[in-house]
Amino acid sequence: MFQFAPVAGQPKPALYRDLVEAALSITADEPDAVANMANCAALLAEFLPALNWAGFYRMVDGGLVLGPFAGKPACIRIALGRGVCGTAAALGETQLVPDVHAFPGHIACDAASRSELVVPVKRSGAVIAVIDLDSPLLARFDAEDATGIETLAAMLADRI
Ligand code: SME
Repeated sequence: MFQFAPVAGQPKPALYRDLVEAALSITADEPDAVANMANCAALLAEFLPALNWAGFYRMVDGGLVLGPFAGKPACIRIALGRGVCGTAAALGETQLVPDVHAFPGHIACDAASRSELVVPVKRSGAVIAVIDLDSPLLARFDAEDATGIETLAAMLADRI
């Protein structure tokens, strides 16, 4: 049994340090990408408060396909450039969206979502997946969340 849990009341940098350490530990020596994404989706949901969806979309044949996640069933395929995820994948850049209703083309997989953070995972410069976090709170994510998830994405690049 794995016992990873956030420390209550931690500032975000410490929370993300612990999350990344847990992800490093749980994916160590495991070559299966699906298993590693599944455990990391579970860690994201466990460590980060006020989320209604946390998981992965993978780049497959030039488009995004749903990967392991925690949350409600979600749309399966997203074309590059579409929605927040497709924009992050097409540009290769983090998308921090304080109000999804104000994002042109936002794809509403869960009507409860109000803000979103999507971070590309790159290997050798190419986007191989995105990490997608949704929250029912407006402006749930800030630059510290983006930095924390970008650190996780960099560390996962050769483990998924
Ligand atoms: N809202 C995303 C779609 C994925 S769900 O949030 C899980 C988007 O606009 O790309």
